[in-house]
Amino acid sequence: MTSSHRGSGPAVTVDGLRKSYGSFTAVDGIGFEIARGETFALLGPNGAGKSTTVEILEGYRERSGGEVSVLGADPRHATLEWKARIGIVLQQTGESGNVTVREQLTHFAGLYPHPRDVDEVIAAVGLEQKDKTRIKSLSGGQRRRVDVALGVIGRPELLFLDEPTTGFDPEARRQFWELIRTLSREGTTIVLTTHYLDEAAQLSDRAAVIAGGRLIDIGPVHELGSAEARVPLVRWRETESSAVREQRTLEPARFVAGLVAEHGEPAELEVIRPSLEDIYLELVGAAEAEAAA
Ligand SMILES: Nc1ncnc2c1ncn2[C@@H]1O[C@H](COP(=O)(O)OP(=O)(O)O)[C@@H](O)[C@H]1O
Ligand SMILES: [Mg+2]
Repeated sequence: MTSSHRGSGPAVTVDGLRKSYGSFTAVDGIGFEIARGETFALLGPNGAGKSTTVEILEGYRERSGGEVSVLGADPRHATLEWKARIGIVLQQTGESGNVTVREQLTHFAGLYPHPRDVDEVIAAVGLEQKDKTRIKSLSGGQRRRVDVALGVIGRPELLFLDEPTTGFDPEARRQFWELIRTLSREGTTIVLTTHYLDEAAQLSDRAAVIAGGRLIDIGPVHELGSAEARVPLVRWRETESSAVREQRTLEPARFVAGLVAEHGEPAELEVIRPSLEDIYLELVGAAEAEAAA
């Protein structure tokens, strides 16, 4: 359903954002924009400032400085109408209520002007077999699915997901990815934090890497890191019994063609593109080394 509030312009703008807890600076001058309809990942080690940043955008925390605009408003002055356009899955799991999954979702659906169908949401998070179970009796991963269901029940224009899949088994994770892709196709803007780099690579259009409260890189997922860090690696053995050889090259196909021309078919040939995880680890490692120096 298209909301009459859906405007043009970015969904989120953040400029010079700062947050201090006493004398400790958790977020130290971060800026970025998120376009409408984009899926944007915030990556970074524990304590980087991801949850602090996300919770400021959600209107859950006060900021110490900087400018923030979310769906055209400052979350400091959030109205009920603004809150109804936003879906939130906090990092910590919600209360483990005495009500059933279905009761909880039906109750929350009633709070929004254009909620999703409760059955549809229950199916999308894979809780069909548990819809009449009390939330307090669910496993951790199942409870997390309820959190995700509650985040999407109001048909938000903008959905914040702070480590949504922690505790999910691999099947639940794949199911969650499908849900996110569906929401994204419908035009939902999604802000995601995750420690699963494959998840970020699968789902997001762009990502920001933060460490120590600072933005260390931002861009399309396939362009993060230095050009050097993204150079593919060819690994092969000339024969079954020879040693493993490696070569980094921007033209792996041409390189392999050369190998074949010279030695015939190599044994155990691999062409490896650095994963987002490889690139992320290099970025964060370099930032940490710089901070320590
Ligand atoms: N309420 C708080 N009071 C004091 N320090 C906090 C508070 N919340 C977070 N912090 C600190 O701020 C830093 C960033 O935390 P957080 O935003 O939760 O990081 P992340 O989500 O990236 O793991 C951490 O060092 C954390 O200990
Ligand atoms: Mg966090």
